[in-house]
Amino acid sequence: MANEWIERWREGRIAFHRDETHPQLMRHWPALHIPTGGKVLVPLCGKSLDMRWLAQRGYPVLGIEISSEAIEQFVSEGEGEVSRYHHGPFDIWRQGSVELWCGDFFQLHIDNTREIQAFYDRASLIALRPAARQRYAFHLAQLLSPGVRGLMITITRSILPEKGPPYHVESDEVRLLFTPNFELELLDVLPPNELGFSEHIWSLVRRGPSEE
Ligand SMILES: C[S@@+](CC[C@H](N)C(=O)[O-])C[C@H]1O[C@@H](n2cnc3c(N)ncnc32)[C@H](O)[C@@H]1O
Repeated sequence: MANEWIERWREGRIAFHRDETHPQLMRHWPALHIPTGGKVLVPLCGKSLDMRWLAQRGYPVLGIEISSEAIEQFVSEGEGEVSRYHHGPFDIWRQGSVELWCGDFFQLHIDNTREIQAFYDRASLIALRPAARQRYAFHLAQLLSPGVRGLMITITRSILPEKGPPYHVESDEVRLLFTPNFELELLDVLPPNELGFSEHIWSLVRRGPSEE
């Protein structure tokens, strides 16, 4: 699975990437009331420009991405000095207040995320097979302290793909995956675009242990 993604980035098959900040991030982020300076986890981040938008608004970013190609493109398309270092299994690039950890999200440990005060996820689930989606929702919950809030943009395809990725993920599945550990609220549903993709915008809050 990881190799498939590394291959896709190498071949430039990245139709999911957007050339501008996601309007729904700009629209809904302020309502989460994340204090400025709060560090934001961005799992399966690609080279999303949404990370720059967050950083420019005073939120340091910790993005995780399996493809070094994606990270190299992100920093080369950005501005500012780049520093690099290693931490455990991760190769880390830092540019301004964006840190990009190259490696497998499932290897990220709670010790790496203690400072995280919010998260932002766009299109992670469609990258993962069904069993991995369950693991993803569980692992994300393990990495976050109770009360941590996030914005999630999931993508549903009205035209069923032959085989993924991107995988077909319905909003009912999103609810099933996240409800055990998160309070979940559907904020908006965008109509399908010309490729048959529609987006659901969710706000999430990590539940406390007594609520699990
Ligand atoms: C559908 S793309 C979404 C990227 C980004 N969030 C965006 O909105 O442009 C999914 C991304 O997850 C990365 N990925 C897939 N499996 C991963 C894993 N196990 N750990 C870290 N990144 C992964 C892929 O390389 C790809 O860039």
